[in-house]
Amino acid sequence: MENVPRTNKGFPVEAFERQRTPFYYYDLDILHGTLAELNRCMARLPWPCTMHYAVKANANPRLLAEIAGHGLGADLVSGGEIQAAIHAGFKPALMAYSGVGKADWEIRLGLECGVGCFNVESVPELEVISALAAEMGCTAPVAIRVNPDIDAHTHRYITTGTAQSKFGIPIEQLPQVVDLALTLPHVHLSGLHFHIGSQIIDLQPYEMLCDTINALLDHYESRGIHFETINVGGGLGIDYSDPDCHAMPDFEHYFGTFAHLRLRDGQQLHFELGRAVVGACGSLISRVLYVKHSRDKQFVILDAGMTDLIRPALYEAHHLIQNLTAVDGASQAYDVVGPVCESSDVFAHDCPLPVTRRGDLIALRSAGAYGESMASSYNQRSLPGSYFA
Ligand SMILES: Cc1ncc(COP(=O)(O)O)c(C=O)c1O
Repeated sequence: MENVPRTNKGFPVEAFERQRTPFYYYDLDILHGTLAELNRCMARLPWPCTMHYAVKANANPRLLAEIAGHGLGADLVSGGEIQAAIHAGFKPALMAYSGVGKADWEIRLGLECGVGCFNVESVPELEVISALAAEMGCTAPVAIRVNPDIDAHTHRYITTGTAQSKFGIPIEQLPQVVDLALTLPHVHLSGLHFHIGSQIIDLQPYEMLCDTINALLDHYESRGIHFETINVGGGLGIDYSDPDCHAMPDFEHYFGTFAHLRLRDGQQLHFELGRAVVGACGSLISRVLYVKHSRDKQFVILDAGMTDLIRPALYEAHHLIQNLTAVDGASQAYDVVGPVCESSDVFAHDCPLPVTRRGDLIALRSAGAYGESMASSYNQRSLPGSYFA
């Protein structure tokens, strides 16, 4: 529904009243503004750049179509995501297929569709891709995902670039893997791929990544090996505490960091942002079922739970919570919880809210990334719907 009146805190609350809760609300103005700013800042880098949107962050078909329409490619981690991306209109040549555990049918699907690149995470995977490509009579374009052993200073569940992580090929093993890839007849080694983690706010780890990449490029150039693409992954964080003040990530600063790279003529730079693209445009909208007064606590019990938004339960993530019905008045401290039969089904402890009552509408902000895409039907609950304005 377009052009609906926006009332409380900029949300179309009247329209929300007619929706079954919980549901995800996506503000398309924020999404479009974010995509325009991203494309503007990325275009200032001196090399040809492509943004592969990380579909895992949110695979809602309407959002995917909007993102494909802005010319982005897609970063995919399963056969299902490849199908969703094709359906949404992403160009196969602008698709990169990552993931430590690609099944044979998924690799075949990627080859059939002509994905632009397989980001390879292990030697056995490289050999299987080569064998399946040989069977299908084609050549697979591959990039080697390097684990650069850089700590992104983020939550341990979303750190991916350290030596302890299951992702990528340890940097010290890269020479053997490059040599192997160059000998496999049904594999075309097109590039190197990196992804050091998610929700990265301090950009210094990206500077370290640039240093690592520059050293690798010098080394391989001296061996006469030229990579067509360098993919620096995703991970740029968003401001969960104050989404109205920072509705958009600082793309200028982020892309500026990669100006430290020393790419060679003809080399392309690829990115894979997910959260920074869709995080701010989404909110989970829920209704208060009960306000329960316990001995030491007041609980606001929502009809949304960890099945709708698992981030707080999974990695103690913080989302700003707002009462859209009772907007004024002195605030009280509530524990905001869901209805799921798990003690971890808690969105916030001691959350300041105006006096809150049964039936009030509550927004959990900045839930556009890793919200709807991680929803489950645990407890036989329905999946949340979505609403666009
Ligand atoms: C390989 C890869 N690329 C990109 C991303 C996107 O990360 P973010 O949403 O933090 O930008 C992820 C997230 O886990 C990933 O694993």
